[in-house]
Amino acid sequence: MHIVLLGTAAGGGFPQWNCWCPICRAARTAPQRAVRRRQSSAAVSVDGERWFLLNASPDIHDQLDCLPGPIPAGVRHVPVEGIVTTDAELDHTLGIVLLREARHLQLLATAAVRRILEQDSRILPVTQAFARVDVTEIEIGRCTPLGYRNGDSSGISIEPFAVPAGAPRFVREGATGHTVGLILVDRETGGSCAYIPGCGELDGALLERMAQTDLVLFDGTFWTDDELISLGIGDRRAREMDHQPISGPSGTLSRLSRLTRPKKVYTHINNTNPILLEDSPEREIVERAGLTVGADGMTFTV
Ligand code: MLT
Ligand code: MN
Ligand code: ZN
Repeated sequence: MHIVLLGTAAGGGFPQWNCWCPICRAARTAPQRAVRRRQSSAAVSVDGERWFLLNASPDIHDQLDCLPGPIPAGVRHVPVEGIVTTDAELDHTLGIVLLREARHLQLLATAAVRRILEQDSRILPVTQAFARVDVTEIEIGRCTPLGYRNGDSSGISIEPFAVPAGAPRFVREGATGHTVGLILVDRETGGSCAYIPGCGELDGALLERMAQTDLVLFDGTFWTDDELISLGIGDRRAREMDHQPISGPSGTLSRLSRLTRPKKVYTHINNTNPILLEDSPEREIVERAGLTVGADGMTFTV
């Protein structure tokens, strides 16, 4: 199973269009110190041709241009067999409507995410005005096989699990399942990957799940809890925004570094996070702890 990181920045991308924080400044003025990143998304495939997206970001058109695969023979070619969502946040779902030219899409979402896409953001009915979208509801704790649009099995299965987080800000009522992590398994090789781009609290049960996998792609949004406050650009703490910070005694780095089996990679990294600077002490701390700072285009095979 091949997994490609299509985007490793949090909502807003990197650099963010309206941000001149020190890290965004470096991305523009000293690009060798900080590589640009698109908004968080990944793609998974067993044959390297037919892909399933894990979330669909607003940068999806550029991201699909980077997908590996043979040059298509036909006039139209849709390399996306389906989209699996971990939540209904805008950075993870605006790309669905931008695929409306596809004519036929598959969406796999929990009932709670489906309801938000139908009733709150209305991304689903707007997309369905242009294209057929077959929706499969996925359930926490239940494995669902990923099938191609022609009905054939891909050999990949996904299992959503609950992660602590709040519902998107624009939602009228949040229900269980509005935010999940995904375990992906290649049923032929047994290779597995945990995809968790947003997590408010990395507890023992979650760590235990991740310990059994081969690859963990995890929420690296903020370095510190008061990152936005200390820069003077926000008044909410990382934890209030449902992102457990990386650093500190209760940060995700000290917990993830204990996992010995999986390769561990940070993704969904906010533009203010100093790990984005190639030469920062924070980057060195992450790498010395045995973790990788995700970058767009990184590919893994499990
Ligand atoms: C988040 O990751 O906290 C959300 O995507 C917030 C946002 O970008 O709107
Ligand atoms: Mn986000
Ligand atoms: Zn910035």
